[in-house]
Amino acid sequence: MKYHIVTYGCQMNLHESEKIAGVLKETGYTEPSSLEEADIIVFNTCCIRENAENHAFGNIGALKKLKREKKGLLIAVGGCMVQEAGKAKLLKDKFPFIDILFGTHNLNELRALIERKKAQKKSVISLLEERGETEDGVTPVRTSYPNAWVNITYGCNNFCTYCIVPYVRGRERSRRAEDILGEVQALVSEGYKEITLLGQNVDSYRGEDGTTFPELLDRVASIEGKFRVRFMTSHPKDFTEELVAVMKKHDKICKHLHLPVQSGNDRILKLMNRRYTREKYLSDLALLRREIPDCEVTTDLIVAFPTETEEEFEDTLSLVEEADLSSAFTFIYSPRTGTKAAEMEGRIDEDVAKDRITRLIALVNAKTREKSAKYVGRTVEILCEDFDEKKGMYLGRDEYGRMGYFKSDKCRIGEFVDLKITEANGISLYGEEA
Ligand code: 5AD
Ligand code: SF4
Repeated sequence: MKYHIVTYGCQMNLHESEKIAGVLKETGYTEPSSLEEADIIVFNTCCIRENAENHAFGNIGALKKLKREKKGLLIAVGGCMVQEAGKAKLLKDKFPFIDILFGTHNLNELRALIERKKAQKKSVISLLEERGETEDGVTPVRTSYPNAWVNITYGCNNFCTYCIVPYVRGRERSRRAEDILGEVQALVSEGYKEITLLGQNVDSYRGEDGTTFPELLDRVASIEGKFRVRFMTSHPKDFTEELVAVMKKHDKICKHLHLPVQSGNDRILKLMNRRYTREKYLSDLALLRREIPDCEVTTDLIVAFPTETEEEFEDTLSLVEEADLSSAFTFIYSPRTGTKAAEMEGRIDEDVAKDRITRLIALVNAKTREKSAKYVGRTVEILCEDFDEKKGMYLGRDEYGRMGYFKSDKCRIGEFVDLKITEANGISLYGEEA
């Protein structure tokens, strides 16, 4: 019995799919396969922007024929989109061939749902309001070696006005520090070389004994062994000197901070309910760079938030320069039903939005190229994670998140390699072993 999982969205979802694979294994689906060969196909959906939903709708719809032709094939759809108000019903009405619909809080229940479906003809729909336990009780089938994802928090309490996450992932819950440390220790013993701590807002982590995020990070990075630590996502409103001090203290912690700013304009930041100002963001980065001069910062940016003027958009452009950002994920604002911003007046024209994002991407790419070029001639340590068939080269990331490519006669996946950089191209570096 084989399984195929289609994942949309963020790292949180990628890791959740590893846990879904773990549940499927326990249920008797022993190996992953192509979509056509699978006995069960699971879609793990995302709803952060409209296009993520459209993708899923298209791909689920395309399975109608396969489902009709292949007796016994199960199709399950889960994750954020299913958890959205009214979406499970919409999916069921549009695609009656879906066997199982489950939300973001019922991973523990998935096995029972599959068994229930096998015993009945009717499809099974199960949505829970909130996550019960913070432990999933499942061993994930990890697919990102040498990196391992580790959840530290679930959900979000921030309610940024554009964002649907708090509605579909529920209130914030922190895992017990002991559980997290135990998991990291086991992963390092198994040979994982990079641990990425995951949370919608890692900085607001609070352990059962009051452990803060910097304290947790300190304890994770104090575990013996040669490995790297990354974390995401941070929120500028929660940036602290303690965090910087811990990053500085440990070589194991990558000198890279992903700090989504969303906009460079204070009026828009206020409308977004972000609870910091441009000035605070810039002064926090100044502190970070005073303490850790080589630390690189990346961000997320949204253009065309309701009522955003040309001048306000230009504040975002100037912030990219002023904050000396290395790279950014850039998005056009997408209204999400149920969020505050979706009710706001002053939607921006699609043409204007497209023009703004094009200009923003051009600037961000120029910044990335400028930053990468400085690496030519330097030696950086990369953690080799894959082999690129097309290029015929191994690849891995440096601690700042750049991809480094190199040739080697033998498999290097999972090894730390010192690369002398000979060429830079956008976010990619090319080099030779030093
Ligand atoms: N429209 C556009 N971008 C969004 N993001 C979150 N919600 C929306 C939305 N409604 C972006 C933010 C966030 C990233 C994960 O997705 O930039 O940091
Ligand atoms: Fe969404 Fe804001 Fe929470 Fe991030 S911090 S998940 S953008 S509500």
